[in-house]
Amino acid sequence: METLVVGDHFIAARYYVDALREVCGEDFGPVRAVDWAGSRSEQHRVQHEMEWHGAAGAPSAPELLDAVGEAEVLAVHFAPIAGALLEAGKRLKAVVVARAGLENVDIEAATRLGVAVSGVSGRNASGVAELALGMMLSESRGIARSDALLKGGGWHEPPPGTEIGHSTVGMVGFGQVGRQLAQRLAGFQVRLLVADPYIDPADLRRYDGESASLADVFRLSDYVVLQARLTPETERFINAELFGLMKPSAYFVNVARSRLVDYDALYATLSAGRIAGAGLDVYDEEPLPPDSRWRSLPNVTLTPHFGGDTIQTNENSARLVAETVAELAATGRIARAANADALGRK
Ligand SMILES: NC(=O)c1ccc[n+]([C@@H]2O[C@H](COP(=O)([O-])OP(=O)(O)OC[C@H]3O[C@@H](n4cnc5c(N)ncnc54)[C@H](O)[C@@H]3O)[C@@H](O)[C@H]2O)c1
Repeated sequence: METLVVGDHFIAARYYVDALREVCGEDFGPVRAVDWAGSRSEQHRVQHEMEWHGAAGAPSAPELLDAVGEAEVLAVHFAPIAGALLEAGKRLKAVVVARAGLENVDIEAATRLGVAVSGVSGRNASGVAELALGMMLSESRGIARSDALLKGGGWHEPPPGTEIGHSTVGMVGFGQVGRQLAQRLAGFQVRLLVADPYIDPADLRRYDGESASLADVFRLSDYVVLQARLTPETERFINAELFGLMKPSAYFVNVARSRLVDYDALYATLSAGRIAGAGLDVYDEEPLPPDSRWRSLPNVTLTPHFGGDTIQTNENSARLVAETVAELAATGRIARAANADALGRK
């Protein structure tokens, strides 16, 4: 089975090549590699736009159109896989995306052309959870601010920080990231409150968590960590009313998606000093514009949407992609493909 792997600035092609050799065997069909052209921030911007508007409007990169040839499988992370590319790949059977979101693939065109589209899940939850913990530590001890100040030649003796140990941590969303964070927080002996209407309470008990309403999570927690999925129900559901319930000493962390939050309300809350601080990895506009209002706010730690960006994530992603390709090679189909049902009916 001929596979074309598409490397980008986030997951290099060699990760897929190594994983395919390891999972599918040294003599597995030809594996070719192509790199999606452009800088890291250009690739981030294109991906961010596709996440908001889908792949239908995104142009296929010429280097991918040139490379697709006889490939039967495309293994890809962020690069747009639009209709023109799917049409150019006359022998394509599947597009396997190295992440859960499939915004970069024109699934409608793929289904029409009989091409399966599948993502992978659980690849980067540990990285995102560890960043959330880092945000909590950074904010409660002012680590990022102290670093910037000292490197700028200054010295300061800020008021005492706070400790995570024995605090109350409120999680909004308790999926893969939430569970990884709960495991890591166990050593801090926190009280864990969870607002997630879709989890089994027995699952929560395994992590020593207590089910709570959204309002109680915001009202009672010293740290509120947002890690819910973006759905029509959760779009901008974290709003001024909830921020108004937070303790003045509490911190808010968003490592999930910006569209879950009314960022105007969060900005107003932080700039008025109504809560102690926040940690943000995700924004409405990415990359963050040079004149973004967030850059001048003192009580926030900012990171460039790199929660899932670790060596371990790259290795896991490529292995999960290779396992999916192996399933296709062995069975002729991918059971968890997003369009498996539609293809089955064809
Ligand atoms: N910063 C990054 O680089 C990065 C990387 C990967 C994932 N993420 C984001 O992190 C978040 C969590 O990822 P995950 O892998 O744990 O997802 P997941 O699908 O495993 O879990 C999401 C959870 O959200 C819950 N949820 C849905 N609606 C809810 C609601 N109304 N209230 C509360 N909870 C609700 C679901 O029940 C589920 O348990 C997602 O938004 C994902 O897009 C960010």
